[in-house]
Amino acid sequence: MKTYKIALIKGDGIGPEIIEEAVKVLDAVASCFDFDFEYEEALMGGCAYDITGDPLPKETINISLNSDAVLFGAIGGSKWDSLPREKRPESGLLKFRKELGVYANLRPAVVYDELINASSLKPEIIMGVDIMVIRELIGGIYFGEPKGRTEDKGWNTMVYTRMEIERIAHQAFKIAQKRDKRVCSIDKANVLDVSQLWRDVVTEISKQYPDVELSHMYVDNAAMQLILNPRQFDVMLTGNIFGDILSDEASMLCGSIGLLPSASVGEKIGVYEPIHGSAPDIAGQGIANPIATIASASMMLKHALSENAAAKKIDNAIKRTLKEGYRTKDLAQYDAKEVCSTSEMGSIIANYAAK
Ligand code: IPM
Ligand code: MG
Repeated sequence: MKTYKIALIKGDGIGPEIIEEAVKVLDAVASCFDFDFEYEEALMGGCAYDITGDPLPKETINISLNSDAVLFGAIGGSKWDSLPREKRPESGLLKFRKELGVYANLRPAVVYDELINASSLKPEIIMGVDIMVIRELIGGIYFGEPKGRTEDKGWNTMVYTRMEIERIAHQAFKIAQKRDKRVCSIDKANVLDVSQLWRDVVTEISKQYPDVELSHMYVDNAAMQLILNPRQFDVMLTGNIFGDILSDEASMLCGSIGLLPSASVGEKIGVYEPIHGSAPDIAGQGIANPIATIASASMMLKHALSENAAAKKIDNAIKRTLKEGYRTKDLAQYDAKEVCSTSEMGSIIANYAAK
């Protein structure tokens, strides 16, 4: 029997509720295979600040690096918005990503047939959408120097080095090779020097992947094309801030941001987390949709642990649950047979995943 060590970072807001459901599903699926999980909890975000005075205690890094993978909920909330920037929950998350070296953020946006009516777009536009947004996660304007703030001026700098662009481009082309073999690189090369470098380097790297078709698009056009004709995209490769924005946009093709998982990977370890935030307004009410986190657990099984069959079981359990009409409140208007709570949703998926 193999035991995988998983670092659990529940975080703030709905974080603890959704992580609990993902753990339920992981344990259920493990019961069908020859492995189990040992979880170790670590603090990050506002809750970490409240207890230790630091949104990212050193111990959290150590626990994470000593694990096989990290499963992460969400952080942040208005309660901590007035803290100095370095004490804010978001700073903890950014530092965490940087320290773990998770430079590639994979954000799949796949439309479930069962939820075809849930999107704000017409079914004929979104039917069959299957996009992988690949977002560079530890560079760009989120991290560039100089940055600063005076009373009357605030500034940040978008910086990318050749090395940073090369490694994310390789990831994108390799992932595209296992998909529809098309990469669309998104930038703002008509205005930004950093984007022109991005475009030049991605083009160079593409020569090593002659089986993958590369196209380029400006980010403003990409935002429009995602709504106009999302099926044109296979892999969307982009930098940190454009990827942040476009992945939220892509999530709306799917009906609810509560559905989308992500994997953040690098050389050392992977972090698996829903793309949504901590939703403090609905925390503690038992109405959050745990599917994004459960699907992130499935990505963890596949990418970090190579337990593909177990991952498949979770994906199928999610589909079956949706097909049978179980919905959390965010999706209650769309072909719901039964509206269920966060924990009921987790239990139904866990039950199917264990079959
Ligand atoms: C995300 C979030 C984070 C980001 C925030 C919470 C710092 O929006 O993971 O998409 O901007 O990267
Ligand atoms: Mg975001």
